[in-house]
Amino acid sequence: MPNPYNPQNPADPNYFGGRKEYLRIVNEKIDGAISYRRSAGVLVYGYRGIGKTSMLYKIKAEAESKQKGIVIYRRLGSTTTERDLYRLISEEVVEAVKKRLGVKGVINGVKEKISSVHTPLLDLDLKTEEENSPYYLWQKVRDNVPSVDFIMIEIDDADYLSSEALGELKTIVEAQAKIPLLLVVSGGEDFEERLIRDYSPIARVFSGASFNLGSFTLNELKEVLDEPVKGTETNWSDEAINKVNDLSSGYPYLVQCIAAASYIEGTITKERVDKTLETALDIGRPWLNNEIKSASDNDIVSFFKIAKLNKQYFTSAELLNAGVSAVYVGRLVRLKVIKKISRGRYKLIKAPIIAYYHALARKIQI
Ligand SMILES: Nc1ncnc2c1ncn2[C@@H]1O[C@H](COP(=O)(O)OP(=O)(O)OP(=O)(O)O)[C@@H](O)[C@H]1O
Ligand SMILES: [Mg+2]
Repeated sequence: MPNPYNPQNPADPNYFGGRKEYLRIVNEKIDGAISYRRSAGVLVYGYRGIGKTSMLYKIKAEAESKQKGIVIYRRLGSTTTERDLYRLISEEVVEAVKKRLGVKGVINGVKEKISSVHTPLLDLDLKTEEENSPYYLWQKVRDNVPSVDFIMIEIDDADYLSSEALGELKTIVEAQAKIPLLLVVSGGEDFEERLIRDYSPIARVFSGASFNLGSFTLNELKEVLDEPVKGTETNWSDEAINKVNDLSSGYPYLVQCIAAASYIEGTITKERVDKTLETALDIGRPWLNNEIKSASDNDIVSFFKIAKLNKQYFTSAELLNAGVSAVYVGRLVRLKVIKKISRGRYKLIKAPIIAYYHALARKIQI
């Protein structure tokens, strides 16, 4: 069996592990849309490599398994204005409907269909509609989606939304329409804060379904390792699982690096995990080694101690208690690992995985 672990790709929904409580809430929202025509928002946020895209893929798969809605996913890669946003969700929804109806495409202006179902949606001229107003285009599309129980729109890396576009999220979820809408949005660690600070009415759209993803618990990690090899001749020994947990601190991207390196057919032992650690670090190097290159080993030790607190905000006293002296607080601020947000208050801005990675790569004993 080919190596099922891969840190460079989001998790295959079949191998998705953990996050059970979040998935339960998501399923409640989907059922609420199907049974009571209730629209809802879901927000997934967290540091790089924590599993946001994997979560969105999993949610998409859950929604598709109900076979009652249309589900679209878009990842943003550059600044997206209000107009861009409406255009892209309109286009994606039209594409999804076409696919569902079996329309293969338009050839010489003639729609080639393999089913006889027709809908006015396919006659919409997106360009002309958009000239009226971007919102009007979206409204037209939405009102013309034929007989589905819900529309799910996923926007990955929504940090790229302009402030006006962000404001439209509320309009999109709350607009009166016959088909309920489920909006699933992902963003970086400070995305939620930005919503609350600058656009508090929007934050309410996600109330009850705002998930700050963190590292895996030991049980979650076990599931993530075991699930892909279930029913094969490969299995992880308990000591090996504990070892992966120690090395990665449960950080999803690092878990995948270590698992990918240690994978063999047969029993994966603790010794195997130890022996392949260099390979695991090589796998993560392109991303992780470029972060805080100029940090000293002592900087890494301090960063590691902060990461282990498993929090985002700290007071000077907390940092001191954790063993990070004032000198290193200053150094970490300059390295942009933490940020001073007010007198005596700091925020962790770099992903904890970077501390874990550098500690391993430089063989720092902590
Ligand atoms: N629930 C999960 N089950 C199994 N593997 C996971 C899970 N979540 C994340 N991973 C793994 O962790 C790695 C990073 O996940 P992912 O790409 O989803 O993170 P991300 O937060 O979207 O990262 P980025 O900020 O770079 O976009 C991937 O290799 C993925 O397979
Ligand atoms: Mg991602």
